[in-house]
Amino acid sequence: MGTEIRKVGVVGLGLMGSGIAQICAMAGLDVIAVEKEQAFLDKGLGRIKGSLAKLVEKGKLSQATQELALAKLTSSTKVADLADCDLVIEAIVEDLGAKSALLKELGGLCKPATIFGSNTSSFPIAAMGEASGRPARMVGLHFFNPVQLMALVEVVRTEQTAADVFEAVKGFAKAVGKQPVMAKDTPGFVVNRLLVPYLGEAIRMLERGDASKEDIDAGMQLGCGHPMGPITLLDYVELDTTLSILQGWADRFPNDPTFKVPQLLRDMVAKGHLGRKSGRGFYEWEGDKKK
Ligand code: CAA
Ligand code: NAD
Repeated sequence: MGTEIRKVGVVGLGLMGSGIAQICAMAGLDVIAVEKEQAFLDKGLGRIKGSLAKLVEKGKLSQATQELALAKLTSSTKVADLADCDLVIEAIVEDLGAKSALLKELGGLCKPATIFGSNTSSFPIAAMGEASGRPARMVGLHFFNPVQLMALVEVVRTEQTAADVFEAVKGFAKAVGKQPVMAKDTPGFVVNRLLVPYLGEAIRMLERGDASKEDIDAGMQLGCGHPMGPITLLDYVELDTTLSILQGWADRFPNDPTFKVPQLLRDMVAKGHLGRKSGRGFYEWEGDKKK
């Protein structure tokens, strides 16, 4: 079966999907972005235009590539429009039920050669492969936030993923300018298995009153050379997504203290303090800038 990747579908044009669609279009691939509602598509397309303009303004992108990317990008509110894609990457909310339902729908309508990729932060890729009915063509393609600036993508191979599919996806990762690292289908793959428990512990430090959020952040920035401290990074990832990741693991591994959900995280999400997107998380935000 063919594995050449020229047309890419991206489902979910939120924080991550808009970045993924953008870098694919910048690499000259044909891209179709799908959201459930036009309003969400418009928001995602606006985010892509803003990011392209910023990259041009900073001299990191030529105007010709900006124009190419905009010309390569189409959008739709119908999943059926993804039928002839070579690769479909899902970047919808971190909810295994929603992702599995989407993969089932995609499996029912895409051409036989379509490869399915998931940008999930935490859920098993194999479960989505099963849902699609085509486990041999399912991989994890875990990009990092902000996709336009972060160099890494984790490529996750399940026990069912076909060897040619895995090779094709590694080639795709390089073609869109990312460094692929190979990961097994384990909770959090490589990066989030280390990062998310660390973020959880930073919240527990706040709960215990061990240090202020500013001092926790300064500690990790100045003491360990991290570009952002953990509390700022939590707002940057968004707190509802972090809660979904930790809650999913806590449900699967209830006796493992590494995956315990801090009560403060639940409280913040319940109050609608979600991070950058709601203007308030642990910090207050104005657009992309901390107040
Ligand atoms: N597109 C285009 N430009 C962008 C951008 C985007 N998406 N995001 C930021 N920029 C721009 C900014 O607007 C800024 O421009 P100005 O100087 O004109 O304001 C410029 O890039 C640089 O940004 P900063 O001034 O904020 O500079 P920085 O040196 O701090 O770099 C950063 C920003 C790359 C985000 C850096 O802070 C960083 O690496 N932070 C850590 C990010 C990280 O850890 N990501 C992983 C999260 S975990 C994950 O993704 C996995 C998961 O499953 C949850
Ligand atoms: P987001 O909430 O910004 O975007 C999700 C988008 O998916 C929304 O625009 C929503 O309208 C859309 N959507 C939901 N269900 C849909 C459906 N059935 N069909 C079409 N569109 C649908 O979330 P995000 O931060 O972009 O996260 C997306 C995925 O990427 C999640 O799996 C998340 O865990 C993962 N991820 C997030 C980060 C991060 O830092 N936020 C980093 C890496 C991976």
